[in-house]
Amino acid sequence: MRMRKKRHGNERLLALSALLYPDTAEIWTPAAEVFGNDRPLKLEVGCGKGDFITRLSVRDTGFNYIALERVADVCVCAVEKYARSRNLGDMAPNGGWLSPEGDLYKDGAAWDIPAELRGNVRFIAGEANSVMEKMPDDSLAGIIANFSDPWSKAGTAKRRLTSPAFLANYKRVLAPGAAFAFKSDNDDLFDYTVETLPQCGFEIVFETRDLHASERAETNIVTEYERNFTEKGIKIKMLEAIPKK
Ligand SMILES: C[S@@+](CC[C@H](N)C(=O)[O-])C[C@H]1O[C@@H](n2cnc3c(N)ncnc32)[C@H](O)[C@@H]1O
Repeated sequence: MRMRKKRHGNERLLALSALLYPDTAEIWTPAAEVFGNDRPLKLEVGCGKGDFITRLSVRDTGFNYIALERVADVCVCAVEKYARSRNLGDMAPNGGWLSPEGDLYKDGAAWDIPAELRGNVRFIAGEANSVMEKMPDDSLAGIIANFSDPWSKAGTAKRRLTSPAFLANYKRVLAPGAAFAFKSDNDDLFDYTVETLPQCGFEIVFETRDLHASERAETNIVTEYERNFTEKGIKIKMLEAIPKK
């Protein structure tokens, strides 16, 4: 996802840092400590501007979620969208974050959002493999990757979120029976993923090349990218795969 540099991007992340998953230490902070409960945890890799995770988190409330986005300026949009959806205020006209009580957080000030208002999503502005490497084995109830970049130029395939190095991490951190769910507009990336998953120890348990005409259409949450591709008449591909453990 390309984006013009956000003004004060880091400051904006800092203002809402109570909605970030602690990720600076080498040691992984247990999810139960972060969320204050032991609901099963799902991970979205490459959450973009956060529309999908914001809607999933209110529909499937029985889970906690980590939404991971490599580009910090995009992650800012996701965190702010989630905060707005929870009525936690909005951006102030002259910069900073304005809480519903009218308190302004800017110039590096972080709002210590009360725990009961934070909801079931925490964000990480980081790279998927380096974050997953810290996660314990079998710790996730699901991983979701929506419309990840196809990296179609020669020599770039290892950056695909379904290349073997990523799949090895997904396999390790997924709990037995938990699924990796993947949606794409791109036929080549989807074909590549269908071929690579079994080679990396996954069983594909659901597959469609036309999600919006499938049995899953009704429960599907349309993402920002998905909306654009669908408007252009591109069929959406989707699969679910479970690691063999
Ligand atoms: C094409 S966008 C799709 C965004 C969103 N999932 C959607 O469907 O609207 C893919 C996003 O994945 C992020 N991404 C790509 N590789 C990543 C990685 N290794 N770790 C974390 N995020 C990554 C990109 O920065 C980009 O924002």
